Amino acid sequence: SIQKSFVSRAQKRNQRSWTYVQPQASYKVAVLGAAGGIGQPLALLVKMSPLVSALNLYDVANVKGVAADLSHCNTPSQVSNFTGDKELASCLKGVNVVVIPAGVPRKPGMTRDDLFNINASIVRSLVEAVADNCPDAFIHIISNPVNSTVPIAAEILKQKGVYDPKKLFGVTTLDVVRANTFVAQKKNLRLIDVDVPVIGGHAGITILPLLSKTKPSVTFTDEEVQELTVRIQNAGTEVVEAKAGAGSATLSMAYAAARFVESSLRAFDGDSDVYECSYVQSEVTELPFFASRIKLGREGVEAVVKSDLEGFTKYEEKALEALKPELKASIEKGINFVHKQP
Ligand code: NAI
Repeated sequence: SIQKSFVSRAQKRNQRSWTYVQPQASYKVAVLGAAGGIGQPLALLVKMSPLVSALNLYDVANVKGVAADLSHCNTPSQVSNFTGDKELASCLKGVNVVVIPAGVPRKPGMTRDDLFNINASIVRSLVEAVADNCPDAFIHIISNPVNSTVPIAAEILKQKGVYDPKKLFGVTTLDVVRANTFVAQKKNLRLIDVDVPVIGGHAGITILPLLSKTKPSVTFTDEEVQELTVRIQNAGTEVVEAKAGAGSATLSMAYAAARFVESSLRAFDGDSDVYECSYVQSEVTELPFFASRIKLGREGVEAVVKSDLEGFTKYEEKALEALKPELKASIEKGINFVHKQP
């Protein structure tokens, strides 16, 4: 089978590198939900990374073709495909980073929370397998509602006795990518220079771009702050409506997720200057999970960037207080799901 020939080629390659030269960087990445709208372009972008030696693609169907297709790209990583429950364990063995975009996306008129019933169960079962097969891996959760699916993952990992809060991440990179793009456009800045931290969570008003902390330093009128904040918060819905029933953001999401994977691998590889915003277990507020800028290291979250969280504007202070009840409820909904309380 395709999968077997990949494996044997990978084994040969490993033997060669063991005998002759140790590869500079050789990390293993698994994508769960790899045949989906996000999964496919994400797999392509990860396939382009020089830091990846093995790319394991898992889905409940249609993943064999995706892997065969990608395997023809002449980049270093070996692509393998895994279909269905029985092959999940072998997909995960020895993996450094697991990315989870499995689940259903929004259609027009839906909130991310409307996805809860289906995606909560998918995330639970996938994270159980992660706990059993690669408990040390970084786990990147993309499946929505992220505000709840990350607490679900944490509870599962706790039940399995392998929870390391430093290695569980809700992927909010797309909010940062969007904020950077919209601010650069509005203020005529060079895109490459712009960096806007986005904190809170990943749904509606829980997404809080800290425009006052934009780099390079730039001033906004009150109207601009309001307009940009609302656009960043609703950017996902903008895409859902434009796709008119065909799904939600996939390409920009794949781009953002690939950036977060690459940042994680750079951190693994010893780069001491890797910062990303992510939704993680946190002591920044009274809420147990909160997105803010973190420093990534070999062991995961190394530190929270405190300077982002000081000197809020009045607008940001108010928005922060306003988002807390919704975020709190989403966290509790996730925790209760695992413990089967109503
Ligand atoms: P999609 O429907 O195109 O793909 C989802 C894939 O997951 C499908 O290939 C499906 O077969 C697979 N899948 C379903 N159950 C599975 C299971 N038990 N194990 C493995 N794979 C399974 O959806 P799309 O557009 O790729 O979105 C995926 C998720 O990402 C959605 O929940 C969506 O809301 C979320 N999302 C998150 C964003 C973020 O910023 N964190 C942004 C955009 C979407």
